[in-house]
Amino acid sequence: MTEKFISIAEAMKRGHGKVAIRGWIYRERGSNELKFLVIRDSSDIIQCVLKKEKFAKQWAEIDKLQVEASVEIEGAIKEDKRAPTGFEVEADKITIVGLSDKFPINKDLNEELLGDRRHLWLRSRKMNAILKIRSTVTGALHEYFRSKDFYEFQSPILIPGGAEEGPTMFSVDYFGKKMYLAQTWQLYAEAAMYSLEKIYCIAPSFRAEKSKTTRHLTEYWHTEMEVAWANLDELMAYAEEMTKHVIKRVLEKNKKELEILGRDWKKLEPSLKKKFPHITYDQVLKILKEKKKTNVPWGKDLRTIEEEKFMEDHDTPVFVTNYPKEIMAFYKPRDPKNPKTALCFDMLGPENNHEIIGGSVRDTNIDELKKSLKAKGEKLEDYKYYFDIHSYGAIPHGGYGLGTERLIKWICGLETIKDAIGFPRTMTRYNP
Ligand code: 4AD
Ligand code: MG
Repeated sequence: MTEKFISIAEAMKRGHGKVAIRGWIYRERGSNELKFLVIRDSSDIIQCVLKKEKFAKQWAEIDKLQVEASVEIEGAIKEDKRAPTGFEVEADKITIVGLSDKFPINKDLNEELLGDRRHLWLRSRKMNAILKIRSTVTGALHEYFRSKDFYEFQSPILIPGGAEEGPTMFSVDYFGKKMYLAQTWQLYAEAAMYSLEKIYCIAPSFRAEKSKTTRHLTEYWHTEMEVAWANLDELMAYAEEMTKHVIKRVLEKNKKELEILGRDWKKLEPSLKKKFPHITYDQVLKILKEKKKTNVPWGKDLRTIEEEKFMEDHDTPVFVTNYPKEIMAFYKPRDPKNPKTALCFDMLGPENNHEIIGGSVRDTNIDELKKSLKAKGEKLEDYKYYFDIHSYGAIPHGGYGLGTERLIKWICGLETIKDAIGFPRTMTRYNP
C-alpha cells in the first residue's frame, strides 16, 4: 500500500494541510486561467482547482482532460462552502495516469441506454451508493446468521430436476443431458439440516419467469435459512430479527449513501422500532373486503394490486400466514388447526415492496408429499432423495428465502430491482 495517497473522505476529515489524492475526473470546467476538476474515488468527490500560472508546462494536457481520466493530485485542502462537498484542494502537482475517451454517459440517457452502458454507469454516485449499501446488507446477513450459530452451507446450482413448481427453470446442456439452474437451495438444505441443524446461505437463484415487473430478476441472490425443530412462529421471529439487524446496520453505516439516493431513511425507522404484525390470509381477505372494497375469492393468490391496497395501512413489513394449501409449494404442510391452509408465511414489505421473504414449515409426511406432488403433475421419481431424507428420523423443521435485492430495493427506496444489483439479469436485460 502506498502511504502517500489518502482517500478523498480521509482528506476531508483532515480538512487542512497538504494532501495527496487520486481518482477519476467526475466533472470538469475551466477558463483560461483556472481549471476546476471534481475528482471522485470510491469514498467521495472533491473539487480541485488548478491555476494556469502553476502548471504552465502541463496546461495544454490539463486543458484536454475529459471526464473519467484518472489522475493523482497533491495540494492544500481547505474548507470552501461553494465547493460541492464543502472542501477544495488547491493543486500543486498533477500526474495524469490514464486518459479518457469522451464518456458516453450524460444526464439525458434513458434507462435502456444506461443499461447498455452499465459497466460504466457503475461509476456513478448513485450506483456507488447502492453498491455500498448492498455490501452492508450482505455483510449484515452473514453477521446475523453467524451470531445465531448458523453454519453456512452451500448447495449445487446445477440440479437434475424441479423443486418449486410455480416458476419455471433455465435448462443447461450438461454433456448432452438436460440439467437445470437451481431456483432454491432448500431441498438440499433440508438434507444438510439433518446434519448441521441451523444453516444458511447467500447464493444466486435462477427463475425463468416471464415477469417484467420492477421486482423480478431472472438471476437474484437468495438468502435462505433452514432450522431444525422450528415452528412457524420461530421462523418469523428469525425473519423479523434478521430484517431489523440489516436495517440497523445500514442506518449505522450508510446514512450518507441513503441521502445521496434521496432516500428518506426516517421511513425505515418504524421497522426498527415496531413489531411486525402477523395476520392470516383469511384476515387479509376480510380487511380487503371491508376496508378496501376489494373482493378476493378464497383460494386465489393475492395479486399485486391487492397486496398494495392491504399494505397501505402499514409502515413496517407484515407477515401474512396460512395461505391456501392448494396454491402453495408441495413441501408446505397443512396447518392442523386450519387444514385448508398451509403452515407458511410471506413477509410483505411496506412502500409497495410486496413479497420480500417466503417461508414455511416443511412437510415430513411422505404420503402427503406424494399426494401434493401428484396433484401438481410432478414425477415422483424426481423426488426420491427428498422422501429419503425424511425417512430417517424426520423432525419438525422449516426455513425461508429472502430476495436479497428486494430487501435492498426497499431499503434504498429504488424504483426498480435492477438497480439493486451490479449487472441485472431480466427477460430483456442480459448484457453487459
Ligand atoms: O417464495 P420463493 O419462491 O421461496 C423459495 O424459493 C423457498 N424455497 C425459499 C425457502 O423457504 N428456502 O422465493 C423466496 C424469495 C421471495 O420471497 C422473493 O423475495 C425472492 O425469493 N424472489 C425473487 N427475487 C427477485 N426476482 C425473482 N424473480 C424472485 N423470485 C423470488
Ligand atoms: Mg414466494
